[in-house]
Amino acid sequence: MAQVKIDNVIKRYGAVQVMHGVDVDINDGEFVVLVGPSGCGKSTLLRMLAGLEEISDGTISIGDRVVNDVPPKERDIAMVFQSYALYPHKTVYDNIGFPLKMAKRPQDEIDKKVTGAADILDLTKYLKRYPKELSGGQRQRVAMGRAIVRDPQVFLFDEPLSNLDAKLRVTMRVEIKELHQRLGTTIVYVTHDQIEAMTMADKIVVMRDGRVEQIGAPLDLYDNPANIFVAGFIGSPSMNFVHGQIVNDGGVRQFRSDNGLMLPLPHTNAADGTKVTYGIRPEHITISDHGVPLRVIVVEPTGSETQVFAKHGTDFIDAMVKDRFKAAPNSEVRFAIDPANVHLFDRATEQRL
Ligand SMILES: Nc1ncnc2c1ncn2[C@@H]1O[C@H](COP(=O)(O)OP(=O)(O)O)[C@@H](O)[C@H]1O
Ligand SMILES: [Mg+2]
Repeated sequence: MAQVKIDNVIKRYGAVQVMHGVDVDINDGEFVVLVGPSGCGKSTLLRMLAGLEEISDGTISIGDRVVNDVPPKERDIAMVFQSYALYPHKTVYDNIGFPLKMAKRPQDEIDKKVTGAADILDLTKYLKRYPKELSGGQRQRVAMGRAIVRDPQVFLFDEPLSNLDAKLRVTMRVEIKELHQRLGTTIVYVTHDQIEAMTMADKIVVMRDGRVEQIGAPLDLYDNPANIFVAGFIGSPSMNFVHGQIVNDGGVRQFRSDNGLMLPLPHTNAADGTKVTYGIRPEHITISDHGVPLRVIVVEPTGSETQVFAKHGTDFIDAMVKDRFKAAPNSEVRFAIDPANVHLFDRATEQRL
């Protein structure tokens, strides 16, 4: 097991710089998820950790060792990819044992490690099968088995569940988390799916355009997003944003949107007249006679909850309410907002106020 330190890492492909000084500290045994939209640099960062991609500047350490110039197979890491890259003509047993065979380990050790990994991953029954005789989830477990037998200091996962259907993804999410609890090995896991990040991570690293936007525990990011990007990326459905300013109406401070919508203001040191972006999560809105009047656009019942899309001129706000609710399009609906749940951002810098 080992801690990992990524220190001011820069990556250029020719003249194009795609990574702009990334710092991430990963503790021993921690489950860290790199999350962000496609193209933000997650895979590049993971491949640099693995040694599959050179870094242009900065340092990467695994354990106490700077690994900038250490080749991949001497880094003591194991990587699991989105495409499981199993050998079609080898059995499950031989696929899992392949790294040990390549390392010319004795047969009794291979046997012990392969059966051990198969036991952990519930693959014992399938050891004699070939990949084409397995389901997608079982194949992904074989790929994980091949990583486990190497007993690495760090596991790297690059979107390992993207090829699976939604239901299987949830099951595998739980399995990988369980695996981490059991082995206690440091994991760096890449995904573009914020739900995966929220549910699996000890620590989330939110990335955008080759930069780290924020690092924190899942609920820290949810409760205290550092900027509009993180606020909009973490949480589902997404946070509502309304642009406007702080106004003082005879001593009562409120938020007024560009469009004239008045919303309750949380405590803030920002002066009257400050231009702000107002953020409120759909699940923090309730429907109440005392709420702010808007017009219903559509109502979507999901069974357990109801999502209500509403507008005021060109301001759009949606609410996710626990109760069942019906309303005709264009009818009035009143949204109540507890100011304690409101997030205010500087409109120009998009940083949290
Ligand atoms: N081999 C390469 N040559 C040039 N540019 C690359 C190469 N690999 C990745 N990039 C660029 O680096 C950026 C980050 O890519 P990547 O790490 O694959 O993003 P992600 O995994 O977050 O989707 C993208 O802009 C991508 O186009
Ligand atoms: Mg990628």
